[in-house]
Amino acid sequence: MVNKGKIVIIGTSNVGSAILNKITDFQLASEIVLIDINTAKAKGEALDASHATSCIYSTNINVHVGTYKDCHDAGIIIITAGPSIKPGETPDRLILAKTNVKVMHSIMSEITKYTKEAMIIAITNPLDVATYYISTHFDYPREKIVGTGTMLETFRLRRILANHYHVDPKNIHGYILGEHGNSAFTAWSTVNIAGMPLSHLDDCFNFSQRIDCKAIEDEVVQVAYDIINLKGWTNTGIAMVACRLIKAVLYDEHTILPLSAVLEGEYGLRDIALSIPRMLCGEGVVKSFEVKLTDAERDLLLRSAESVKKASACCRD
Ligand code: LAC
Repeated sequence: MVNKGKIVIIGTSNVGSAILNKITDFQLASEIVLIDINTAKAKGEALDASHATSCIYSTNINVHVGTYKDCHDAGIIIITAGPSIKPGETPDRLILAKTNVKVMHSIMSEITKYTKEAMIIAITNPLDVATYYISTHFDYPREKIVGTGTMLETFRLRRILANHYHVDPKNIHGYILGEHGNSAFTAWSTVNIAGMPLSHLDDCFNFSQRIDCKAIEDEVVQVAYDIINLKGWTNTGIAMVACRLIKAVLYDEHTILPLSAVLEGEYGLRDIALSIPRMLCGEGVVKSFEVKLTDAERDLLLRSAESVKKASACCRD
């Protein structure tokens, strides 16, 4: 019997611990189990979080270290384990593919011993390769596996445009699609602010200085590496993305977000995981949307697919 309030976090380094703390702050779980090969780190994070949940403002969430056996009744399993890009390394998440596919193999081999019902949220990079691998190499319901995808790029685009137009980021809509990585692209034809399409924005906001779409698109891709060079890693943004997905599952929201999953013919693509708009609810990913793209945007999606497909070759080794 699945306990919808039970979340297992695999990997308790910077990303995993940030997700742990956001889940407790937002009170999105009744039980949180931490699994890490570094059990001391997991134990320290669990102890620290358990003191926060003792606070008068907090729900009494049971946070503890566990093993893969704890997955048997988990509602959600979040996979963050595996090395990430370090300061000064090649700024390309795809270089992690060979190493982290092996990490995904060991993790998924354990998970599938105990459950095939939990919603799996993949975060480990290269995200699309990791999502593809765990979706295609194990007998696990496809709709119950989702990668955080270009949600984070979308948050970043919102912030950049919000700062430029001095508006609430929540008024900014539109999609960044493709790889969670260097070949991600902004489908500018979908971008609008409170229903005002990009083409009208500068007039609507009486802006003489038109936005430089290419510069903004480059900034969205580059900013992760800037943050890594500044603080050593990224974790806060991705932790918020994880909580947005947890909430969509927990509250059966049927919300549409740019998420990574294996394509099944959308835009003529198969056998690869990329972000396109998908509907997420308590049952998992229940629908994908082939949103209308310009010819140039479709070409960018195909270019992104090529880049990820090349990196996914190691999944077939
Ligand atoms: C980033 C990591 C999560 O983009 O890939 O911050």
